[in-house]
Amino acid sequence: MTLLSASNIVKEVRDGERKARILDGVSLELAAGERVALVGPSGSGKSTLLHVLGALDGDYTGEVRLAGTPLEGLSDRARSRLRGRDVGFVFQAYNLVSRATVAENIALPSRFNGTQLAPEAVREVIERVGLSGKADRRPHQLSGGERQRVAIARALVQKPKVVLCDEPTGNLDAETGGKILQLFDALTGAGVALLIATHDRAIADSSRRELKLKDGKLS
Ligand SMILES: Nc1ncnc2c1ncn2[C@@H]1O[C@H](COP(=O)(O)OP(=O)(O)OP(=O)(O)O)[C@@H](O)[C@H]1O
Ligand SMILES: [Mg+2]
Repeated sequence: MTLLSASNIVKEVRDGERKARILDGVSLELAAGERVALVGPSGSGKSTLLHVLGALDGDYTGEVRLAGTPLEGLSDRARSRLRGRDVGFVFQAYNLVSRATVAENIALPSRFNGTQLAPEAVREVIERVGLSGKADRRPHQLSGGERQRVAIARALVQKPKVVLCDEPTGNLDAETGGKILQLFDALTGAGVALLIATHDRAIADSSRRELKLKDGKLS
């Protein structure tokens, strides 16, 4: 079953007088249970593509289908509902709320989309990413790798169908990175489609499929 598909995505931004083309005709498909690595040099458009695929950026041409729903033409509300229900994001810059605790940060997306989240669900996901005992800390009391794991826990707590990760092991040592890889295996085993932008060879090599982005084009 295809959970995520994109067809001929083009994204341009204004660069002074000229237009710069950041994504140049990107097409891809991701099936349930599939883990795909998205690789390419810095500036090749990986983060930009993840934002488009995850319904965070609607300023593009082409077609995206997320869990069966075409994104084009959806209202802002419908987009954010779809995002909240079906997509988990792990952002390159974590996007944690600095005044909120670990547990509060993880529960935040559900506050936005109005779903009820059992405290046990938050506790369970904290345990899964190895942060037991740190639920009440705030981001500044965590290491970079621990913050990264909070971002991962936040993406997983809603049990999304599609998880989009931007450098999820960028700040992790090899052992913690390995644990996150195991977590990814559990996710794909449960039918989640996982797209991971990464420079980490261990992730790329252990993914069955690799998409290479260069100058906004896939190869
Ligand atoms: N809002 C914007 N306006 C203008 N240019 C932008 C904007 N956002 C991104 N870019 C440019 O688009 C290109 C792609 O950026 P993007 O962040 O998608 O790259 P990336 O592959 O994720 O890189 P990295 O590996 O460093 O994270 C870059 O050249 C960047 O400078
Ligand atoms: Mg990036």
